[in-house]
Amino acid sequence: MSDSKDTNLSWGGRFSEATDAFVARFTASVNFDQRMALQDIQGSIAHATMLTSVGVLTEEELQSIRTGLTEIVTDIENGTFQWSLALEDVHMNVEAALTSQIGITGKKLHTGRSRNDQVATDIRLWLRKEIDIIANELTRLQQGILELAGRETDTIMPGFTHLQTAQPVTFGHHLMAWFEMMERDHSRLLDCRKRLNQSPLGAAALAGTTYPINRHMTADLLGFDAPTRNSLDSVSDRDFAIEFCAFASILLTHLSRASEELVLWTSALFNFIELPDRFCTGSSIMPQKKNPDVPELVRGKSGRVYGHLVALLTLMKSQPLAYNKDNQEDKEPLFDTVDTVKDCLRAFADMVPAIQAKKENMREAARRGFSTATDLADYLVRKGIPFRDSHEIVGKSVAYGIASNKDLSEMSLEELKQFSPVIEQDVFEVLTLEGSVAARNHIGGTAPEQVRSAIALAKEHLNARD
Ligand code: ARG
Repeated sequence: MSDSKDTNLSWGGRFSEATDAFVARFTASVNFDQRMALQDIQGSIAHATMLTSVGVLTEEELQSIRTGLTEIVTDIENGTFQWSLALEDVHMNVEAALTSQIGITGKKLHTGRSRNDQVATDIRLWLRKEIDIIANELTRLQQGILELAGRETDTIMPGFTHLQTAQPVTFGHHLMAWFEMMERDHSRLLDCRKRLNQSPLGAAALAGTTYPINRHMTADLLGFDAPTRNSLDSVSDRDFAIEFCAFASILLTHLSRASEELVLWTSALFNFIELPDRFCTGSSIMPQKKNPDVPELVRGKSGRVYGHLVALLTLMKSQPLAYNKDNQEDKEPLFDTVDTVKDCLRAFADMVPAIQAKKENMREAARRGFSTATDLADYLVRKGIPFRDSHEIVGKSVAYGIASNKDLSEMSLEELKQFSPVIEQDVFEVLTLEGSVAARNHIGGTAPEQVRSAIALAKEHLNARD
């Protein structure tokens, strides 16, 4: 990075002394906004094409701008482009390089445009491309969840409320709850894409421009659905970036919940699953340790993503119309959110289908926790006992079970009958774990039959994507 120039060529005209060296560094964004260079050039080509179509630039000028910008793309991709701090940001770096390459025509590119509508366009183009990558990665994670859920439709585990054993569920059903969370995240992401996909180009500094521009044309060339409708709003609001960070925060909340469960389930106290060694690390002092670092890190990453959301909200809050330099602070939080989301999704999409369920341990945990107590209460209701009374009867049976170290299904008919004479031999059908889950056979229920059809529907849904 060179910083040889004293005054900024793009706006130095009205200045009588050079920018203070610290101020130049403090106000520059090129160190980070160069990530949007390709989108900046894409926007410039569209802008120049439109200027030519309305007679502001000639065909020759357009040709020369195109050739120059294409060479700059090559330099950037090869890492040979010379970024200059004195040129402040990606926009002025590219423009200065173009002018030094093609001469005076390069200086015409900025006609009818401002860095304010330019940067608003660049961020949208950049984020849109990243959203498409993230949407695919989210789909890959959903496919991984379906793969694991498909293997575990009949696997019985305890379902929890308050982290206390509540009722037996199938592991496939539990995994499909994760799927639903990811499904809503995916649709939130697409909503965000829809709203950001409008072209601010033409808003210029804030009020529009006196040139006879064609905003529909630049919008079309850049794949936007339409031009934005108000120039002041176009250059100032970053709500689309806030919305993306809100999507990311909710996604990370969901991933942190799944992570927490993976951490619990791999601990020796639960011992429900095995994570393959490649997703874990060891301890330098305790040889027996196999730590679930990947889910722990994902859980921890939620902190920085929430932080970025709050940073962007705070950045935007109370800003008067239209553009303010505050907005330059939008990029680093947004970039880091995108990077973090991609890493976390990749980790999860790789890891989830490789999870091995320890079916026996899960089943045993469900058996030990009196998880069929509600089934016994429902049985008594079917025999004519009001639910509140049957709740009381079952409570007493559980207390007896705790004292005698027996699960409900391990008690004899005589033992059960001491709590209610209506209990008959057929009670054992409802006291088994399999009977309990199979009985919850309605949409959204945990019965293996329902989980199988939920998985089939979900697969169809994912196949219909793209
Ligand atoms: N680097 C600036 C940003 O990210 C570009 C726009 C600068 N506009 C201006 N009027 N100083 O917001």
